[in-house]
Amino acid sequence: MSLFRATSVSVRYGQLRALENVDIALEPGVVHGVIGPNGAGKSTFVDALSGRTRLTSGNVEFDGADITHRSVRWRRKAGISRSFQKTSVFNSMTVSQQLELVAHRNHERDLDGIVDALSLGPVMDRVCSEVAYGTQRSVDLAMALIGNPRVVLLDEPCAGLVHDESVNMLQHVRDLCRERGVGALLVEHDVDGVFRTCDVITVLNLGTVLCHGTPDEVRKDDAVIKAYLGSAA
Ligand SMILES: Nc1ncnc2c1ncn2[C@@H]1O[C@H](COP(=O)(O)OP(=O)(O)OP(=O)(O)O)[C@@H](O)[C@H]1O
Ligand SMILES: [Mg+2]
Repeated sequence: MSLFRATSVSVRYGQLRALENVDIALEPGVVHGVIGPNGAGKSTFVDALSGRTRLTSGNVEFDGADITHRSVRWRRKAGISRSFQKTSVFNSMTVSQQLELVAHRNHERDLDGIVDALSLGPVMDRVCSEVAYGTQRSVDLAMALIGNPRVVLLDEPCAGLVHDESVNMLQHVRDLCRERGVGALLVEHDVDGVFRTCDVITVLNLGTVLCHGTPDEVRKDDAVIKAYLGSAA
């Protein structure tokens, strides 16, 4: 039994088929990458798995129970958290206020551990809008990790980061998930970063799964090379 499993997930927006029969299984301590071109349905998938967007069909299981119709709030409490493609910090709060608010809501007892792991100590008293963008992305990741989630759904945590920051962020994601036994779904545009970081990868294209496998398998897959990677492979 997988920790978290989505089966035949479809989402339609009116006539548009944003996702068609997509499956995924997340396991403890495993980072599962989801890549694909713009509009492939990656954010829709994260929204569907987190409870933000209703499935047109399909189902989602967590710990062996059907959670398809559970709310975002219920899922967060049960241990399924997410981060957003766009930075979601409250600009007017200090980093410390922002993290403490989320920690209070989610009964986190070791906020210091998360702050240390993401090297946020030196900026805790700074206002979120005034810290560097890369640091705001780390605050976003910290918020997703608060409350000991068992599953994290990360929508492009490296969006807008420069190369070195991106390498650093992905390393943090991998180390924290492995140490804590968290099952991670990592949506990312930085394909090299995904190949380096993830244990398994699902490639989406036009709302369907093009390929699923280890980084080596995906890199060599003819359909993926043709539709997506091109000469980058
Ligand atoms: N709320 C919505 N209403 C209608 N169509 C939507 C909505 N959200 C997304 N779409 C459409 O669904 C498709 C998938 O979009 P989605 O944002 O999931 O792609 P993505 O893979 O995350 O893309 P990107 O790499 O640009 O972030 C696109 O065609 C998009 O225009
Ligand atoms: Mg997206």
